[in-house]
Amino acid sequence: MKINHSLIDISDIDLAQWNKLYYLACDIEENPQKYAQACRGKIMASMFFEPSTRTQSSFQAAMLRLGGSVIGFSGTGGTSVQKGENFQDTVYIMSQYSDLITIRHPQDGAALAASEICDIPVINAGDGRHLHPTQSLTDLMTITRLKGNIENLNIAICGDLLYGRAVHTLLFALSKFKHNKIYLISTAKLRVPQYVKDIVIQSGNTLIECESLEEYMSEFDVLYMTRIQRERFDSQEEYLAQSGIYVLTAEKLKKAKSDMIILHPLPKVDEIEYAVDSDPRAKYFAQAKYGMYIRMALILSMLNGDFISHFPKPQSGKACNNPHCISCNEKHLPALSKFKASKEFCVYCDCEK
Ligand code: NCD
Repeated sequence: MKINHSLIDISDIDLAQWNKLYYLACDIEENPQKYAQACRGKIMASMFFEPSTRTQSSFQAAMLRLGGSVIGFSGTGGTSVQKGENFQDTVYIMSQYSDLITIRHPQDGAALAASEICDIPVINAGDGRHLHPTQSLTDLMTITRLKGNIENLNIAICGDLLYGRAVHTLLFALSKFKHNKIYLISTAKLRVPQYVKDIVIQSGNTLIECESLEEYMSEFDVLYMTRIQRERFDSQEEYLAQSGIYVLTAEKLKKAKSDMIILHPLPKVDEIEYAVDSDPRAKYFAQAKYGMYIRMALILSMLNGDFISHFPKPQSGKACNNPHCISCNEKHLPALSKFKASKEFCVYCDCEK
């Protein structure tokens, strides 16, 4: 597999690589002129098969602020996907025109599949219900900038913890750090999958699962709210049964620490009352801006050849039976597995086989 220069999963990045990216992003933020021509002559292909405002635009702004150019599409309307072109051909062709691909796709494992198909670096900008590593880089940068480091913090994550790719990837990212207490707040139906919880538990950070947003409010240093994602549910009834349960209000915030920070990957729908936006603890708009700087650092490192991924080498295995997995839908893709504690997992979507 040709994935040693791509960012598919947050585990591709170790702490040393994270520190390099973080300091580069801070330097770019402070000295933008120094980097204004750093990617001159380079082209980024932006392949967004699924809706996006921030991720797509922040990647594009990042490349333009580095002096590079952007080609691509937002939604498949207007592309040959509408004529029946397969994923493999679409990715391969775009890779012939560009130096780097950013891809968002509704199927789990699509970014990994793209990195298999072409020779240029691929950045996962969100694959189905699975992962969203650059959102986690954004979150880590925001917490580090605003809290000084990611140690001895009480970090609460609330909302759709089952389908939220930003949540899963953030939990993997936090597992690289030590001595944090992580509160997982959700309904019983939308709890974090066990394979994600296992990684946090193994990392030695403390995990607390609860259903109440208010119960531990006075303890949080970081409160990460998420939306209930309508598009991830199999039916409208299931979505309606879960929506509107967690709403952060100015009233609830009276119990919170004065220096707590409120984060959200955005878009927010109804889980944060409008009045909270003007609370000085609300940092989600600043977070979205940090996302552009960390993406600038990532693009620059990749195009300079400074980015080495630590993705483990996959092995041939059984076919995956997760209907949301790209390997179930794109038949040309080889069935690939990784083995942990004598169990077999799909390399594309992480589901047990
Ligand atoms: C998140 C995503 O797409 O997973 N948004 C984002 O990239 N900023 C979260 C969401 O859509 O709820």
